[in-house]
Amino acid sequence: MSDITFSKPAETANSALFFRRWLRNPLQMGSIIPSSPALCRRIAAAVQRGPEEHVLELGAGTGVVSAALLASGVPAHKLTVVEIVPEMADFLREALPGVNVICGDAFDLKNALPEHLHGRIGTAICGIPLVLLPLERQRAFVEAVESVAPGKGFLLYTYCITSPLPYGKLGLAAKRLAWTPLNFPPASVWRYTPRPAR
Ligand SMILES: C[S@@+](CC[C@H](N)C(=O)[O-])C[C@H]1O[C@@H](n2cnc3c(N)ncnc32)[C@H](O)[C@@H]1O
Repeated sequence: MSDITFSKPAETANSALFFRRWLRNPLQMGSIIPSSPALCRRIAAAVQRGPEEHVLELGAGTGVVSAALLASGVPAHKLTVVEIVPEMADFLREALPGVNVICGDAFDLKNALPEHLHGRIGTAICGIPLVLLPLERQRAFVEAVESVAPGKGFLLYTYCITSPLPYGKLGLAAKRLAWTPLNFPPASVWRYTPRPAR
């Protein structure tokens, strides 16, 4: 396990980039500041991964969750992050050497993710503000994850008090794994998994 944290100047650059992107597209960002270290640690603690499996982070922003995953022991070469904003993907490549950074759309994982990773994902983590999207888009996201990580579902962090997704309508089972007041606003980590068809 290593202690991977951003230096003060990197942290400032990180927050400034995040805020700039929020001004440009608040719905795409979903938050004005990056997730707190307390939330990132809780997300990392919920990750399950076999020795050969990869962790897939969707909507990596400026990489605070990614850094917590590395610090928790996920090897850089087993971490793939997908970020739709090219400027943020460039930032991630610089900040996270050895991590596979893909500038792409998490709703198109089948094409965005190299084939050798299909079916080899231990945990997918969603940082995209799904709660703001209509049901059809949420369904498209669930299907995108299922296309590359069948049966695995995903972790989702949220500021909502109750489930941010109508999981029954999406054919998912849901479990709240963690909550922290040490985030602005306080946040929870949920695990969603596909419900077997009856
Ligand atoms: C709430 S921020 C989370 C950033 C970071 N993971 C954190 O916790 O601080 C959401 C991120 O998802 C990215 N995003 C939004 N839609 C996306 C999509 N369709 N595919 C990939 N990334 C997306 C945004 O650009 C933004 O960086």
